[in-house]
Amino acid sequence: MCWTSDARAKLISRRAATTVRRPDTLLVQSDAMKDLSALLEQNRAWAAGIKADEPEFFQTLAKQQTPSYLWIGCSDSRMPAEQLVGLMPGELFVHRNVANLVVHTDFNCLSVLQFAVEALKVRHVIVCGHYGCGGVRAAFENLQLGLIDNWLRHVQDVMHNHAALLARLADDERRLDRLCELNVIEQVLSVSRTTIVQNAWARGQELAVHGLIYGLEDGLLRDLGIRITDQHELTAAYAGAIKACA
Ligand code: CO
Repeated sequence: MCWTSDARAKLISRRAATTVRRPDTLLVQSDAMKDLSALLEQNRAWAAGIKADEPEFFQTLAKQQTPSYLWIGCSDSRMPAEQLVGLMPGELFVHRNVANLVVHTDFNCLSVLQFAVEALKVRHVIVCGHYGCGGVRAAFENLQLGLIDNWLRHVQDVMHNHAALLARLADDERRLDRLCELNVIEQVLSVSRTTIVQNAWARGQELAVHGLIYGLEDGLLRDLGIRITDQHELTAAYAGAIKACA
């Protein structure tokens, strides 16, 4: 699907206007936990707004999706993937989990990756972390939160692998920020090492894996300078990104 810039701008502004969370209507409801009427009402307004601008929008989109990007991000509610990069429905395939991890035994994430690469033929996989990540902080502080501690052991692995680099920083806030960055770089490496991505590159499929980090305080994405488009780039790209963090 190809949108004119006018139609895109109108639809994005319409989406922003209709999907902004309104605490007065969402939180003051008598039994908000059970009652989804505010969300349903906002959904009707959102759908009507889009149809007013593009009457065929949903019918066209229902027939197929052709996203160019797979986004692997944190589940944090403050980083809504499509919104912060201004993409429309149908343009971003998304997987999110706590601390944006790519674990080689996580069949959920691997299934998303396989479908995105092999069926949808996305051209970019973006791993996006964020500063102030609660999952990364919990790992950093070795908090005991229950089941999730086991998931966050993967972040602790990153922390232990880069202990010397982190130890050189002045204070824990800087270490935490750097750990958020290192975690993204490590997950870019994990994506690139999967059989799915390795096989795609081996058969000549165009596919780039990127690492970004999002600032909750300014709403901006930063490029962590790691972009891997081929098996042969992997080692040097990883080493370069880690060196830039040192
Ligand atoms: Co997070």
